[in-house]
This record gives sequence, structure tokens and C-alpha cells, in this order.
Amino acid sequence: MNILVTGASSGFGKSICQRLVAEGHYVVGFARRAEKLEVLKEQLGELFTPIVCDVADFASIDKAFSEVPEGSIDVLVNNAGLALGLEGMQNLAVSDWTTMINTNINGLVYFTQKVLPTMIAQNSGLIINMGSIAGTYPYPGGNIYGATKAFVKQFSLNLRTDLLGTQVRVTNIEPGLCGDTEFSNVRFKGNDDKAAKVYENVKYIMPEDIASTVSFLVSQPTHVNYNRIEMMPVSQASAPLAVHRQK
Ligand SMILES: NC(=O)c1ccc[n+]([C@@H]2O[C@H](COP(=O)([O-])OP(=O)(O)OC[C@H]3O[C@@H](n4cnc5c(N)ncnc54)[C@H](OP(=O)(O)O)[C@@H]3O)[C@@H](O)[C@H]2O)c1
Repeated sequence: MNILVTGASSGFGKSICQRLVAEGHYVVGFARRAEKLEVLKEQLGELFTPIVCDVADFASIDKAFSEVPEGSIDVLVNNAGLALGLEGMQNLAVSDWTTMINTNINGLVYFTQKVLPTMIAQNSGLIINMGSIAGTYPYPGGNIYGATKAFVKQFSLNLRTDLLGTQVRVTNIEPGLCGDTEFSNVRFKGNDDKAAKVYENVKYIMPEDIASTVSFLVSQPTHVNYNRIEMMPVSQASAPLAVHRQK
């Protein structure tokens, strides 16, 4: 299959590319950091094509698409995304929330729109969006990030409705706490000690677990659509609703 993966330079995206290439698929990986993509290219060889792309910039996506090798597009994994900060909304920098919205929502929607004409014309395809449990369960400081992932969840369902009558499938993967990625280092802007604390003394989900879920979805019969897959480590559960009591 011909598979496009955004956010291929680290974490889930990198692991997804490694897994899919190992299974013999032809994978195009997109990210901003060319040097990281090049390392992956050296490792994966012929079956992997790296393309530098900033998904928060429509012109960059247009350019990246012009570099995608001709042919069918069987799967798109809309994985690029990030959380910035953990402040209350009143203190969240405007540049942080606009970056999250531009990346997690606008980039994902634009990338999706780019593959739809091809998938609809070939009457086949699978779009896998990387949501989050943050799109369902709120947590303090998750304000905009959680809202972007709630968008991804609803967009995935709405897209399914738009595509009814075609054989194009859409799945939203909603992971919980996953380590061995740069997610928290990005969130805490390079404060690696703070990032490491998130994963202290807990057995978290690994990027390989997400890659294995993607591999499962890719291998499903084409008449089956998984709408949502919510994944958590066993050591995580949703907390009860909080109540603030007066003193
Ligand atoms: N880790 C978790 O606990 C967790 C849980 C639920 C959901 N998720 C979601 O899973 C996805 C992957 O996260 P991860 O944990 O693997 O984090 P990660 O290691 O930080 O990877 C994020 C990837 O997204 C890319 N990216 C970020 N902004 C981009 C942009 N403007 N243009 C192109 N690529 C961009 C990064 O590449 P460059 O920096 O090279 O561009 C990187 O390859 C995200 O959507 C995240 O929200 C993560």
C-alpha cells in the first residue's frame, strides 16, 4: 500500500513508519525537521520517502504534496500534533494556542482535503486521525489541546458521514498517556526534567503500541470501519468529576 504519515520525525509517527515499512508498505513521511527524516530514511531505505513539511502552513502542505510520488493513496495517518503549556486559559500565550489550532486542526483538515479527491476517485482509502483521550476527558490546563482533539474526534465522525456511499474509511485513534516520544518535551518547551516527571514510576503506552494499532487498522477488511479506538495504559483511568467546596 501507499501510505502517508505526518509527524514522521519522532514518537508515534516514526514508529508507525518503521512498522509499516517493515510490513512492506511504501511510506511517505512528513515533518519539519529534515535531519530527523534523513536518519529515518537511512534506516528504512527504498520504501521510505521523507518530505519536509510544516502542516501549520498551507503553502508548505501544497509544496509537499507536489513532491508526493504519483499513484494511489491508500492510507493517510494524520499524526502531526502538539500540546503547548499547561497553564490556565487566562495565562496561555496567544502564540501557543494559535500554534496548537493551526497544527492539530487546520493542518489535519487541509491534509485530509488534499487526499480526498484521490481517495474518492479510486473509491478506496483509509484516513487515520490521531486524536487523544484529551478530546473526551478534560484535565486542568488541557483547555485548547483537549478542544483541538475534540474537534478531531467530531471531524472524523462527520467525515465518515460525508463519505458514506464511498469505500473511504475514517478512524480516530485516541491514546492516553504514552511515553518515549517528544510530546512532553515539546509541551514544556525543552524543560526535560519537567517532561520526565510525567512518566515517573508509571508503565505508559509506547509508540510501538500505537504503531501496532495502525498496523491492525491497515490490515482490516475494506468493508470494516473502526470509528474510534480509545487506548490507555492499564495504570491510567479517568478521574471522578471534581467538586470545589466552600470553606
Ligand atoms: N504522547 C502522548 O501521550 C499522546 C497522547 C495522545 C495523543 N497524542 C498525539 O499523538 C501525536 C504524536 O505525538 P507524539 O507523542 O508522537 O509526539 P512527538 O514525539 O512530539 O511527535 C510529534 C510529531 O509531530 C510533528 N509536528 C509537530 N508540529 C508539526 C508541524 N507544524 N508540521 C509538521 N509536523 C509537525 C513533529 O515533527 P517536527 O517537529 O519535525 O515537525 C513530530 O514528528 C500528536 O498528534 C499528539 O497530540 C500523543
